[in-house]
Amino acid sequence: MSYMSNVLFIKANGLPAERSVSVTLYETFLKNYKSSHPEDTITELNLFEENLPYYDVTMMNGLFKEAAGEPRTEEEQKLADIANGYLDQFLAADKIVIAFPLWNLTIPAQFSTYLFYLNQAGKTFKYTEQGPVGLVTGKKVALLNARGGIYSDGPGVALEMSVNYVRNIFNHFGITSSDIQAVVVEGHNANPAKAQDIISVGKEEAAALAEKF
Ligand SMILES: Cc1cc2nc3c(=O)[nH]c(=O)nc-3n(C[C@H](O)[C@H](O)[C@H](O)COP(=O)(O)O)c2cc1C
Repeated sequence: MSYMSNVLFIKANGLPAERSVSVTLYETFLKNYKSSHPEDTITELNLFEENLPYYDVTMMNGLFKEAAGEPRTEEEQKLADIANGYLDQFLAADKIVIAFPLWNLTIPAQFSTYLFYLNQAGKTFKYTEQGPVGLVTGKKVALLNARGGIYSDGPGVALEMSVNYVRNIFNHFGITSSDIQAVVVEGHNANPAKAQDIISVGKEEAAALAEKF
């Protein structure tokens, strides 16, 4: 019997698929993943439909005091519990699929807040004398990204802080580059005449990755 995976699908774009390339990749991946891995458990998390309070001082205090074993106010505990709920869900997944756009050279604020919840010393990484060390092992990640301009070549390379940012955060957690695969659709806004072809290739890549993921 094959091992049944627990797969977390994260959507970091609130637009419908008809208006979003990354959501189109998400739906293509999900459909193909389900048909090729019918035994797996799939959880979908739409970050634009969640209540994701900013990582503010109260939440920070709640998490800090929890780690230090200090008493917390009701509000500090409530906010820490929100962050920890998302962290526990992330840690429980064997595989993680995330669809997100490049906006203003980076990721949407909802996704940024979510990553703040996950980034906790003692849980996803620890400090050592040699620097931070990741604590998350044995996970596979698929990144599905869309960006209207070109960032794989030329001056855009140094500006791209969407896929690079997410990769760096996951590397920091200990998820190595060999466990992260990405489908990136780019340049469809820069080249409207080629947009349909560019998006079609991305959908094929997402479908192919889903089957072997
Ligand atoms: C708020 C916003 C900011 C954007 N910023 C950039 C940008 O900095 N560079 C770029 O090439 N495209 C930018 N775009 C275009 C998106 O990258 C493009 O629409 C891409 O397809 C987004 O993914 P989506 O189709 O899944 O929404 C931006 C779009 C929006 C809505």
